[in-house]
Amino acid sequence: MKARKIVDEMDSYVPGRSQDEIAEEFNLNKDEIIKLGSNENPWGPSPKAMEAIKNEIKSINRYPESQLKELVAEMADYSGVEDNQVIIGGDGADEIIDVLAKTFIDDGDEFIVPLPSYMYYEYLLQQYGARPVYARWDLEKNELDLDSIFDAITEKTKMIFLCTPNNPTGTLIEKDVLKQIASKNPEILIVIDEAYFEYSEVTNKDLIDEFDNIFIIRTMSKVLGLAGMRIGYGLACAEIIEYMHRIKPVFSLTRLSFAAALNTFRDKEYIRDSIKKGIESRQYLYDELSKIDSLNVFPSKSNFMLIGVKDTGFTASELALELMKRGIIVRDCTSFKGLDEYWIRISICTLEEDKKFIELINEVLN
Ligand SMILES: Cc1ncc(COP(=O)(O)O)c(C=O)c1O
Repeated sequence: MKARKIVDEMDSYVPGRSQDEIAEEFNLNKDEIIKLGSNENPWGPSPKAMEAIKNEIKSINRYPESQLKELVAEMADYSGVEDNQVIIGGDGADEIIDVLAKTFIDDGDEFIVPLPSYMYYEYLLQQYGARPVYARWDLEKNELDLDSIFDAITEKTKMIFLCTPNNPTGTLIEKDVLKQIASKNPEILIVIDEAYFEYSEVTNKDLIDEFDNIFIIRTMSKVLGLAGMRIGYGLACAEIIEYMHRIKPVFSLTRLSFAAALNTFRDKEYIRDSIKKGIESRQYLYDELSKIDSLNVFPSKSNFMLIGVKDTGFTASELALELMKRGIIVRDCTSFKGLDEYWIRISICTLEEDKKFIELINEVLN
């Protein structure tokens, strides 16, 4: 049985590796593995979210809410927008990207992604018959190459994905640059991915009132500590949100995710604390890694940082392997388009884990 042509020609997405996989492969104790590969919150979820999940368990024989009104109101309040400018996804921000594609992409459309960036946009949009056109991040200057975006626009362009802070470079895109791109053509949807905005303390959500062609992606998987519950959301003008609601999976957010999300947003102290600890960890890692001459460490506005390893004498895969044998998971970026085989990405960890990582990377490199 032959699959659809597009599926037949596609490769699978390569996600970050899990503690279970590495424990089994290298015969290590899972609890001692330090995971710096997937940009999660290493301090665990909000205690209020955990309590709420326990209380909700007795109701999981019932279908979840479909309207999610209480949570929409909480997200709107957190984001400073109106309730009708919010949509929620139950497979994280990835579901939001999928629903965006289903709502707006026609076979043969083009979308622009400056490389390197989050690879899942391309993985999802291609499934709907869209074609990626690549623009670029200038890695020397560590900024978006704006001309490369304008050069990539054609009459078939339907969406432009702009991740800020960008995964994996950790760089912000200036608001003025976003406005220039959004002003170019109101028929092109500018998708601003703010998965990590809390760590940069910068948001562009105000642009959704100014432009009807801007969509902001958000997630609860990072600062908000709920990667395992798979909750994402999007912000845009009411018209875009209404179209997306027509085709969004009705029950994609489980009862447990709903309870966890609601109570995390209400736990303001947890959120403040997660941001503060994340920024402290980032600074510590940046300072310590910058002392290693053979590493090219990118300053970051996010909870991860990109590191060039060419001068170490290792490729990214070789270095990742050496670290894995010692119980450290980093992201080998060899599969990221726009990067060669000499880049790794690491996420923030608890201070204790950060110190262990610094000790072990020094051990490998010396
Ligand atoms: C830039 C960016 N956008 C979106 C996502 C997807 O997040 P979620 O876990 O909500 O699907 C990620 C996940 O790592 C990401 O890095």
